[in-house]
Parts: sequence; structure tokens; C-alpha cells
Amino acid sequence: MDQEDRPVLVTGATGSTGRAVLEALAGRGKPVRAMVRREADRERLPVGVQAVVADFDDAVSVAAALRGAGRAYLVTPSAERAEAQQRRFADLAAEAGVEHVVVLSQLAADKDSPVRFLRYHAMVEEHVRSLGIGYTFLRPNLFFQGLLAFAGLVSAQGRFYAPIGDAKVSAIDVRDIGAVAAAALTEAGHEGATYTLTGPAAITHHDIAAALASALGRDVTFAEVPPDVFADSLSGMMPPWQIDGLLEDYAHYGRGEAAEVTATVADITGKPSRSIGQFARDYAAAFSS
Ligand SMILES: NC(=O)c1ccc[n+]([C@@H]2O[C@H](COP(=O)([O-])OP(=O)(O)OC[C@H]3O[C@@H](n4cnc5c(N)ncnc54)[C@H](OP(=O)(O)O)[C@@H]3O)[C@@H](O)[C@H]2O)c1
Repeated sequence: MDQEDRPVLVTGATGSTGRAVLEALAGRGKPVRAMVRREADRERLPVGVQAVVADFDDAVSVAAALRGAGRAYLVTPSAERAEAQQRRFADLAAEAGVEHVVVLSQLAADKDSPVRFLRYHAMVEEHVRSLGIGYTFLRPNLFFQGLLAFAGLVSAQGRFYAPIGDAKVSAIDVRDIGAVAAAALTEAGHEGATYTLTGPAAITHHDIAAALASALGRDVTFAEVPPDVFADSLSGMMPPWQIDGLLEDYAHYGRGEAAEVTATVADITGKPSRSIGQFARDYAAAFSS
């Protein structure tokens, strides 16, 4: 098969960024193969997308999913096994002759960071660099779509909370991450690049509340909570390793370390990244139901 005709494999296809990548790939004229965990998940994909069933923890299934693929988008949840899962996926991609992997990392990935997520992303990047295959690293900031976790609270009580104070964060819409990933998965010129991806402005969570209030036509307020109260609210919803990681993430935001604004989305896609106002208007229904 011609290199050009080999499918693009999209992992995390039922997740936040994977879904955005699939939507951005539509219409680019490349065959796409979406990786899902269960047969039934095929129905969660956009109409017409071909699916393959595989699990990051089952190397045989991942090797089969990668067979014949030309490029691949790699994302896992930031769970304790993420680094091992991503390293193994990259090894299997190299063995399968995949030409290029686009890896979802995070803004400020650094092996010496106090934030465990930033350390593991940096370790994965280093490993991929050592494999001799093509790569693009996407380092986005905090996702707007993460606010959907507060949709019920916003809808019922008009408020949401986090341990972040008045710190500014250049948060980004996952649709813009999807657009950059689709470019890196289908165009030349992104080989060996590390892209720091941000929204168009550094904003506080009070700014986010104001954007939601304006889009919803009602009062929405943001309240600072201490880290231990935030951790308690997440208890039982995710493993302790992940909760501790989130607290480290928020401390990093709180120190103002994620306020950098880049023009990378516009440079690559030709369109500026979406603002919090646009996100709030587009997702207003989710915060109202
Ligand atoms: N959230 C943020 O603000 C933020 C900011 C910067 C970077 N990031 C990075 O973004 C990544 C998360 O991306 P996301 O939001 O797109 O993730 P997500 O919405 O949590 O989706 C995760 C995807 O991975 C799939 N998956 C989970 N375990 C799997 C397994 N064992 N085998 C195969 N597939 C599996 C899930 O499938 P199921 O549907 O079957 O569960 C889902 O499709 C993390 O690496 C994080 O560090 C996040």
C-alpha cells in the first residue's frame, strides 16, 4: 500500500481529544481507523469511521490495531499506568513501521517537574525521540472541556470551584487541539516539532465564570477551595494517584506557571484558537440541563 493510503490510527477515540481529532480529520481525504476498547463503542464514533477494538494493556491487540497504519495519534488518560502504556504503544508503532506518531503531552512537560503528569509526559517524549520514528508532540494547556465536569453544579447552583485562586491560565478548547493534531497527522512539515498549544488569552476562573454567566444568561460564580476540600470532592471518582496529580496540576496553575499564550494554533490551522466566550456559547446547553 502506498504510504499516502495507509490509515491514520486514532487512539482514545471515545475521549475528549480523540473525538476532536476524528472530527478534524473528517474531510481531509485520509483513511482513518479509530481505536476503541469495546465492540459496543463503535456506535459512539462519528458515522462512517472505521473502528478497531484494542486495549493499551493488551499488546497483542494494540499491535493488530497498528498493523498497516501510516501515522497514529496517541493519548491515554493521565492514570498511573499512562507512561508504561504510552511507551509500549510507541514501541509497537515503531515495530509496525508507523511513520509518525502525534503524541498528546502537556504544556510545561518536564522530567524534573513537581507535577507527576508533567514528569511522565516528558519521559514519554524522551522515549519516543529515542525510537527513530517521526513524531510531533502536542503540549496543550488546561482544557475548557474539563469544565464540563462542573456542568451539573453550574446548572443546579450557578457555581463551581477549584484550588487555583486568581491565577491566570491560557486554557484551550480541545477542538483546537484536534485541528492541530489533524494537520500533524496528514501534512508534511510537523516532523520533530513540539507545539505548545494555548487558548487566545490567559484567564482566571472568575473570567470563566463571567463567560458562562454571559452565555447562560444567569449568575455563575467561581469559588476558591482549599486543596484538601477539592481532593475530598473527587474521592471515589478517581484513584488517589490521579487525585494527587490533579492537586499538583492546580498548584502549578496557581503558581502562574501555565499563563503563557502562544499563536501556534493560528499558525498551523490558519484560525485563532477559540476563546472562553465561544466555548461557553457552544456548550451552553450542557451547563443548563
Ligand atoms: N484535561 C486537561 O486539562 C489536560 C491538559 C493538558 C493535557 N492533558 C492530557 O490529556 C490526556 C487526556 O486526554 P483526553 O482528555 O482526550 O482523555 P479522555 O477524554 O479521558 O479519554 C481517554 C480515552 O482513552 C481511552 N482509554 C482509556 N483506557 C484505555 C485502555 N486501557 N485502552 C484503550 N483505550 C483506553 C478511553 O476509552 P473509554 O471511553 O473506553 O474509557 C478514552 O477514549 C492526558 O494525557 C492528560 O495529561 C489534559
